[in-house]
Amino acid sequence: MPLVNTKKMFEDAYKNHYAVGAFNVDSIAMVQGLLQAAEDAKSPVIISISKGSRKFMHPGNIKELVECVSKDITIPFAIHLDHGDSFEVCKSCIDEGFTSVMMDCGDDVSFDERIRLTKEVADYAHAHGAVVEGELGELGGEDGGSGHGGYSDPQAVKEFVLKSGVDSLAVSVGTCHGMQKHTTLETGLIKEMMALLPNFPFVLHGSSTINNANLKDFNDYGGNICGAVGVPEEQIREVVKLGVCKVNIGTDFRVAYVAALRKSLALNPSRFEPRTFLEPAKKAVYDLVYHKLTNVFGSKGHNKF
Ligand code: G3H
Ligand code: ZN
Repeated sequence: MPLVNTKKMFEDAYKNHYAVGAFNVDSIAMVQGLLQAAEDAKSPVIISISKGSRKFMHPGNIKELVECVSKDITIPFAIHLDHGDSFEVCKSCIDEGFTSVMMDCGDDVSFDERIRLTKEVADYAHAHGAVVEGELGELGGEDGGSGHGGYSDPQAVKEFVLKSGVDSLAVSVGTCHGMQKHTTLETGLIKEMMALLPNFPFVLHGSSTINNANLKDFNDYGGNICGAVGVPEEQIREVVKLGVCKVNIGTDFRVAYVAALRKSLALNPSRFEPRTFLEPAKKAVYDLVYHKLTNVFGSKGHNKF
């Protein structure tokens, strides 16, 4: 099980102009589909786990669960806490073997306090071989609804990175979580930040594209998601070329899984073995991940660094 932190991953990604995909998992079947796609694409990948997903999957034993299903996996991967909201939750994830944590202080914390809280996590992580992703700027829609946050200020970003000791930083450049997003990203802002912090890994949240065949299946088989707007893959390709090192995908990954579940449940009304439904769901996330790694993030073949 080549579990690593993201330090070398991001160095290699920056040097070779690709991004590492971070996918939000909720279950071991999703981890299996994710890791197998990365293995077949010979690509590094990040298993991203929110606080809620960790609670659902089994806090305390996620590393062991992943270990069980990754015996034949050879590509480098990280286990990352997504949107950790306190020192305590970040610490307990690091203690249980996560190699990376995000410290998200929320929107109502002052700049200086944000630095203090994030540095506390960074110091603990670094003393234990883990790394920290910070956040500056409102990412928007974090409650799962819509919302367009305030963009990151490049000078503040530089000061925050230098003072907090973070290893990577999530910035707001027009990205939003959930189903309603901007269709264009502020590439000029990204360029400005990169000029101020050359070689530093920036992270893009809220990067799902949404309107694809999976959403159609989702709605055709009983779902009801209307008016979804995602970030076009062309936009993501562009920011990856600029040097963004990590791209987060939650919505696309979840919709792929649930759409396949809906479809197989609808098409097999007399079947009752769970694997009848879970197998296509696993295959759907496999296909989505393989596509993103190959055609959007450009990480295919970058499994050695
Ligand atoms: O932290 C998770 C991601 O930022 C989710 O973004 O809603 O566009 O998939 P998404
Ligand atoms: Zn996010």
